[in-house]
Amino acid sequence: MEKIIDENKQGEALTLEANAQNTKKLFIESYGCQMNFSDSEVVASILSKEGYNTTQNLEDADLVLVNTCSIREKAELTVRKRLEKYQAVKRKKNPRMKVGVLGCMAERLKSKFLEEEKIVDLVVGPDAYKDIPNLLSEVEEGRNAVNVILSKEETYGDISPVRLQSNGVTAFVSITRGCDNMCTFCVVPFTRGRERSRDPQSILEEVNDLAQKGYKEVTLLGQNVDSYLWYGGGLKKDFEKASEMQKATAVNFAQLMAMVAQAQPKMRVRFSTSNPQDMTLDVVETMANHKNICNYIHLPVQSGSDRILELMNRQHTRAEYMKLIDDIRRIIPDIAISQDIITGFPTETEKDHQDTLDLMNYAKYDYGFMFYYSERPGTMAARKMEDDIPLEVKKRRLAEVIALQHELSHYNTKRFVGKTVEVLIEKESKKSDQEWSGRTEQNTVAVFPKEDYNIGDYVMVTITECTTSTLRGKAVGYSTNN
Ligand code: 5AD
Ligand code: SF4
Repeated sequence: MEKIIDENKQGEALTLEANAQNTKKLFIESYGCQMNFSDSEVVASILSKEGYNTTQNLEDADLVLVNTCSIREKAELTVRKRLEKYQAVKRKKNPRMKVGVLGCMAERLKSKFLEEEKIVDLVVGPDAYKDIPNLLSEVEEGRNAVNVILSKEETYGDISPVRLQSNGVTAFVSITRGCDNMCTFCVVPFTRGRERSRDPQSILEEVNDLAQKGYKEVTLLGQNVDSYLWYGGGLKKDFEKASEMQKATAVNFAQLMAMVAQAQPKMRVRFSTSNPQDMTLDVVETMANHKNICNYIHLPVQSGSDRILELMNRQHTRAEYMKLIDDIRRIIPDIAISQDIITGFPTETEKDHQDTLDLMNYAKYDYGFMFYYSERPGTMAARKMEDDIPLEVKKRRLAEVIALQHELSHYNTKRFVGKTVEVLIEKESKKSDQEWSGRTEQNTVAVFPKEDYNIGDYVMVTITECTTSTLRGKAVGYSTNN
């Protein structure tokens, strides 16, 4: 599963360069994972051709779109609140505004949305964005419109996304959509459908185009990137039926990443998300063989207990996960690894919880994304298991997991103090306009005085101090990568 992005960005309205001929105004905001933020860029691109420029002002908008997340109940409640806000603005200030719901909640609730939320005119699932212009004509004629048909082919590989939230330095490129893993707690396989991979040529074109526009880092994005497989189109599960020719010329994730890294050797390459059951060592070896592939892996584990892993249908054991961590660290000693962990999954005992804490100590994660279990309607866990862990217990266990992660993160950031590391400058530091903020290849944030350096420079920074999540230091010159 893909990482939930920076809390600060959740719900931020997105803007893109205005096209002078466009007269209509689109307000589009996104919640949830990075894939949603990327999808919104695809939607803005589709709508730009329909006469829409983006606005950050709800009161000006002809069309308001919210790209939604269903992963936990809280994410859905946030979206419901936003709909209330749109309703208030529509009533008081902007009666002509139309409202559409995109993304996972649209797929999960389908036309029920129209009944439950009177403000909504348009409901569009994650594979139906190309149909938005048709759906809008319906809406203009006074009918509500819904398209939530999941596709087996759609990857939007032929649409060049407009970079809405961009710092001009780092960008995300989708490589797969959907997920076939069926973890029992997870709604994603229902909202985003079967896994399919995008044509490597269109991925390369997008990366080359980004490089040409001055971007310095690209993150290859998918719910489960390690299971990327291109053999001329089609679902991964049908690969067995492919022709000998298709099999011989197929491209897997390690090969794709090598192609991207070689095409743009001055660009940093990252990827997210890996799942332990699908991650193979050829991916790690490819990372080791290419200097520009960053030494960082997001490797969700969810639980450290074999019994819970099985109930979650994670398809690997605790011992297999530990072996994978050992192998990764053997091949790339200075790797950073991050986790996703869920506390309070049905039937989780104190012993299971302790197993999770022990595994965290073993893996020494650099950071993590931690949640308490939220039952999602329609998932196997919701159908077969009682959500039996009291909320206080879920939250107490989560607090323990977070506290331990803070210790581990601090242990990891301290290791950088006294070292000189390469940092790619992304933006001004939030705390001071005298300082730049960037990331090391391990994905740790580093801040340092600006001097004469600029956004987009690769700089060598000597680290002098750290907090649990941030390094602080002084630049000592440009990296040879510039
Ligand atoms: N409850 C809590 N957390 C969840 N995640 C996915 N589904 C649920 C759920 N039902 C978490 C997993 C996943 C991350 C993106 O969200 O840890 O890796
Ligand atoms: Fe990730 Fe599992 Fe959900 Fe797939 S089913 S998106 S692997 S958590």
